[in-house]
Amino acid sequence: MDKIKIIGGQKLHGEVKISGAKNAALPLIASSILVNGKTCFTNVPDLMDISSIKLLLEDLGATCESSDNYLEVNGSSINKIEAEYDLVRKMRASILVLGPLVARFGHAKVSLPGGCAIGARPVNMHLSGLEALGANISIEHGYIEAKAGKLIGNEIYFDMPTVTGTENLMMAATLAKGTSVLRNAAREPEIVALADALIKMGAKIHGAGTAIITIEGVKELSSVDIEIIPDRIETGTFMVAAAATNGDVLIKGCEPDHIGGIISKLKATGSRVEIVADTIRVKGNSSIKSIDIKTLPYPGFPTDMQAQFMTLMTIAKGNSVIHESIFENRFVHANELLRMGADISISSGNIAMVRGVKKLQAAQVMASDLRASASLVIAGLIAEGTTVISRVYHMDRGYEGIEKKFSLLGANIERIK
Ligand code: EPZ
Repeated sequence: MDKIKIIGGQKLHGEVKISGAKNAALPLIASSILVNGKTCFTNVPDLMDISSIKLLLEDLGATCESSDNYLEVNGSSINKIEAEYDLVRKMRASILVLGPLVARFGHAKVSLPGGCAIGARPVNMHLSGLEALGANISIEHGYIEAKAGKLIGNEIYFDMPTVTGTENLMMAATLAKGTSVLRNAAREPEIVALADALIKMGAKIHGAGTAIITIEGVKELSSVDIEIIPDRIETGTFMVAAAATNGDVLIKGCEPDHIGGIISKLKATGSRVEIVADTIRVKGNSSIKSIDIKTLPYPGFPTDMQAQFMTLMTIAKGNSVIHESIFENRFVHANELLRMGADISISSGNIAMVRGVKKLQAAQVMASDLRASASLVIAGLIAEGTTVISRVYHMDRGYEGIEKKFSLLGANIERIK
């Protein structure tokens, strides 16, 4: 398994280009199942998760042609409605094929995605939503089976905002008979991007980006070209890295409108943030102010930025309270930061108190999930000495060529095979 070796102490400077968003690409690529023809995607990030969903679609009978950051999926040859355990276990977001398969074929069998390091990750809201649209759901031998002659539009109320739940049901409702209304829907930019693509295919959707999304079913959807939006979490990751190293970085090809929560918090720590069109300049500050954060559904501060921000707070002046309100176990990275000399105490499972220390010390650490690995890279950049991070396959799932991007910014970082 690959490792990442970092010799800390460099201030990041220069320019970095943001890749397409993983969490936009996955539902968008899944939506190609709805089309009896080709769907073409550009600005697709080159990630393990993208390879996983391509493998899954090919296993269902679709054909995928890809080169660099381009992907073409032809859904007309899909001849299987079962997403197998071996493929789903590699990536939980495979659940996103469930809604499209039921909508187009009236039947789907998808392996129940397991939990992961950050939590149990149930899919009960996905399933109760499909039942509301008339699907018969059974769970046997670790597989979800959904059967529906034809989905029928209905009202669906989410107990709490669910990103992939909203995406799954929005896709399913596009081909249902009649109108569906999703209430307490998630409002992430990736949902708006998916709705825009579905509307381009011929779907009738109103309200994406708000808590109430109305979908009027149509007979079929047609082939379109789709450009993947920039990755707001990759953008935030490089912003925090620039602040943590007291650097001066230009982040290009991003969408500032999607990261208001991150920008306001970073400014509160004393960094300078300037926005010009699709470029953000982050200039660090030698003295980092400690601030409190609470993760919330969009447009609140994103849970996918919590680990990276915790690293920044480990060297801030004063104490920071970090409240993780979305997932029940998303502080695994704290244990690794403690090994690097951070001063963090966790109470009641989802509240962490971070007391700023002067410096982190380099150490051998282990990544546990995608965003935790990013927080450990940032810690390695600011620690004195050589940090080695193992299990970096977690990072390869969601960050395209991250060590190359950081070394272009002056970091002393390399991948060890
Ligand atoms: C999406 O996961 C993202 N993944 C996650 O990013 C992100 O952390 C998360 O949204 C929250 O923003 C993709 O988009 C592929 P949820 P998702 O359903 O949809 C509970 C990353 O690092 N819940 O919005 O799985 C759930 O347990 C990944 O890129 C239910 O109880 O998250 C959680 O506590 C990590 N029942 C909360 O809702 C359900 O049926 C929000 O989860 C569904 C969710």
